[in-house]
Amino acid sequence: EIPDLYEIYGDNFKIGVAVPYKVLSNPLEMKMVEKHFNSITAENEMKPESLLVDLNSYKFSVADEYISFAQSKNFDVRGHTLLWHNQTPDWFFKDTNGNLVSREVLLKRMEKYIKDVVGHFSGKIQAWDVVNEAIDPNQPDGLRRTLWYDIIGPEYIEYAFKFAHEADPNAKLFYNDYNTYEPKKRDFIYNLVSDFKARGIPIDGIGMQMHIGVGTDLRQVEEAIELFSSIPGIEIHITELDMSIYKDQSSNYDAPPYESLVEQGYVYKELFTLLKKYDDVITSVTFWGLKDDYSWKNQNRNDWPLLFDKDYQAKYSYWGIVEPT
Ligand code: XIL
Repeated sequence: EIPDLYEIYGDNFKIGVAVPYKVLSNPLEMKMVEKHFNSITAENEMKPESLLVDLNSYKFSVADEYISFAQSKNFDVRGHTLLWHNQTPDWFFKDTNGNLVSREVLLKRMEKYIKDVVGHFSGKIQAWDVVNEAIDPNQPDGLRRTLWYDIIGPEYIEYAFKFAHEADPNAKLFYNDYNTYEPKKRDFIYNLVSDFKARGIPIDGIGMQMHIGVGTDLRQVEEAIELFSSIPGIEIHITELDMSIYKDQSSNYDAPPYESLVEQGYVYKELFTLLKKYDDVITSVTFWGLKDDYSWKNQNRNDWPLLFDKDYQAKYSYWGIVEPT
């Protein structure tokens, strides 16, 4: 019997996993989830395209199953995600003639969506990724050009946080993004969140997705954690952890080289040593998938980014984080 991760990290932070419905509805796989984790995220099932039926109705049944699992096993739930430029129906931004709606109409739709959804789960979701991936360091103002931005303007982000807070004042509200350790992007996030805090916009934390690779510079990760944790009242969640075994964009292996898996074990170990060092500000760490063959990283090429292999066996990555230094 191998050690339970959540017991090892219980004093440091919650340890979570994102799973698709096929895992949630598989009792054997959920036993494994129960053994190792104490927080859960729906990989896709709480995104707007999964919840929205039309402007006035929702499909909550699948998402509610995540909640009942969590409540029966005492897991936290991370709600992912309210506002994003992906996995949101096109029609949400359009009128019946197919034209983009006005600023006023979209703000009203946003308010209704956030209040309906956050309200539906009120008291049952501990943390929401309110806005996902809104920063684009290549824009002069650092904000990604999306329909939200184009139609409403830069204030759409703070509106989202206000609406979410009104719907569930106890849920912790996060801004979530990838490559948060990349210096330009990091600084835009720091400025956005500091400004929100200073102006009393309700925000509780920064979600660092952490889709990294064995070659990622962990010193940059540490610098970002340092900087974010200097914002008073801000906590950090690692929300979507996985670690590609590749160091370049073009390789594609049929099977993972032994040395890469060993190296991955060492880098995971180093990462968790770092995360533990900051456990006063890092309150939750979520893996983006249960086992390698279920990982989204396999969409473009083969990859082996997680703790368990396709046969449910613990990898060097698992043993690396069971014994961090
Ligand atoms: C991914 C899921 O893992 C895939 O199953 C889906 O096809 C696309 O979305 N950043 C995010 C997550 O915030 O929602 C994404 O999840 C991965 C990147």
